[in-house]
Order: sequence, then structure tokens, then C-alpha cells
Amino acid sequence: MQNVEVLVEALPYIKDFHDSRMVIKLGGHAMVNEAVMEKTIRDILLLYFVGIKPIVIHGGGPEISEKMEKFGLKPKFIDGLRVTDRETLEIVEMVLDGKINSKIVSTFIKHGGKAVGISAKDGLLVVARKKTVKKKVGDEEIELDLGFVGESEVINPDILEVLVNNKFIPVISPIAADKEGNVFNLNADVVAGHIAGAVKAKKLIMLTDVPGLLRDPNDRNSLISTIRVSELEEMLKENKIKGGMIPKVESVIYAVKNGVEKAHIIDGSREHSILIELFTKKGIGTMVIR
Ligand SMILES: Nc1ncnc2c1ncn2[C@@H]1O[C@H](COP(=O)(O)OP(=O)(O)OP(=O)(O)O)[C@@H](O)[C@H]1O
Ligand SMILES: [Mg+2]
Repeated sequence: MQNVEVLVEALPYIKDFHDSRMVIKLGGHAMVNEAVMEKTIRDILLLYFVGIKPIVIHGGGPEISEKMEKFGLKPKFIDGLRVTDRETLEIVEMVLDGKINSKIVSTFIKHGGKAVGISAKDGLLVVARKKTVKKKVGDEEIELDLGFVGESEVINPDILEVLVNNKFIPVISPIAADKEGNVFNLNADVVAGHIAGAVKAKKLIMLTDVPGLLRDPNDRNSLISTIRVSELEEMLKENKIKGGMIPKVESVIYAVKNGVEKAHIIDGSREHSILIELFTKKGIGTMVIR
């Protein structure tokens, strides 16, 4: 009886979500534990079978750093973005396309899902350009070179339309090319936000390794449950958001300003966090509203 009640309680959500697209970003940190990752993928399949159309994008931070160290390279970040020289780019491609993307797809298959692994360059989904970062040093603004770090110039969601409309689950790595075919490493959060806007997703869901957006990054008990985009912009301006949370928050702001109904930042290392966030009133992480 209890199981049945749970189902009935979820009905309004299922009805609301039916046939809608949801962009889900799997953070590298949320995938370190394989067992948890597998459960997350099973939960995404549950969404799929109740009529939601998931589009998955993944990162791979920790594994890239680990491989870099094995090859004697030292990972370096500026504002949450990985400085990427040619050797690092090779490792990034190897880990993201060769390993993580493939692993996610095979895990979907294991649980009966029709997933298709692509990178953001496939079908020109994302046309990239080199990203430049400006930083204030004293009164002067200097330009920092991050190497082969890109940003999206154009998004062509055609390939996603083909896949999603034919009941496939796209699994996207954040590696894109410019029009000359030069390959760039993009931040997966940023790609997720742009794609969510382009496919008119109902939700953008970011799975990471902290409970959500924290008022104080060092205090896991300072979780913000609901926040408006305007407040988020304030927090960014006041430098209250650091490291890997910066691209996440920027991306969430972009998505919600570009037609996505709500965005969620949740702890992907906790079991069933997606289901709790989507199908319960209270939720589990941070919900971002317009
Ligand atoms: N205000 C904040 N609230 C929550 N986390 C924060 C905040 N400021 C900084 N962070 C940091 O952001 C991190 C999450 O971003 P990070 O890029 O490291 O992981 P990810 O994006 O989930 O994984 P990947 O980059 O591999 O895709 C957290 O682990 C936390 O240390
Ligand atoms: Mg990140």
C-alpha cells in the first residue's frame, strides 16, 4: 500500500513533467563512486520511462586531474576553468570521450536505456571559439591565456532533436571544435546551460558533490533551498561564489534567463538525489527560480 501511495503522490509531478526535456549535468565529482553513478543513471532512466526526455552532459574533473598527475602534469585552474595546454587537451579528450562518456553509455545500456554518446562537436552541436579571460590586477585589467579552453559561439541543437525525437538519450561530453576543426575543452556546466536554453528544457539539473549552493562554501549546513536569479547575480558580484561553483552559477543564470523554467543544483553523490529533488515538495538541494 505504501508503495502505491508514493506513486499516487508523484502523479502531479509526473503529469507536469511528461514529454518535457530535462538537461542533466553529471559532475565528475558526482561520478567518482561508480556504484552511486550507476544508481544515478538508473534514476535518469526512471525519468525517461515516465515520459521525460533526458539530455545528459558530463564533466570529469577528478579523473582528468588524476591522469594528468600520472603523466607528470600539474592541474591548474583559473576561476574554476582548467588551464589546458596541448598535452592536457589530449588527456582531456582521452578521459572525457574515451572513458567517461563510454562508461555512462554502457551503464545506460546495462539498465535497458538507449543512450548515444556524442561530444559537443558532433553534428556541430556546439561551435566553439577560444575563450579569453580578463582579470583585474590592481587597477589594470590583464588577459589570461587558458590555452585550449573554449566557449560556445553557436549552438545547433539539430542532432539532439534527431536523437530525442527518436527516443534516444544523448550523452554529451564538453569537447567542441571551432569552424576550422580546432578542438577545445569547454566547461561542462556552461555547455549544459547553453544546451538547456537551446532545446527549451523544462529543467536544468546540476549534479555535483556538495548539497547545493552554500551560503558559506566551508559550511555544508548553509544550504540555500530556493534562490532567485537576481540574488544569484548579487552573490556572484560580491565574490561569494568560488571555484567550480562559478561556471555552474553562471550557467544556471543563463538557462533560467533563456526559457528554462527552473534549475537545480544538487548532491549527485547522495543516492536518489534527482528523484527526491524532482518528486518531493521539499527537495534536497538548491532550486533556482526566475
Ligand atoms: N558557494 C558555494 N557553494 C557550494 N559549493 C561551492 C561554493 N563555492 C565554491 N564551491 C565549490 O564548487 C565545487 C563544485 O564544482 P566542481 O567544478 O569542483 O565540481 P563539478 O562541476 O560537480 O564536477 P566537474 O567539474 O568534474 O564536472 C564544490 O565541491 C565546492 O568546493
Ligand atoms: Mg565543474
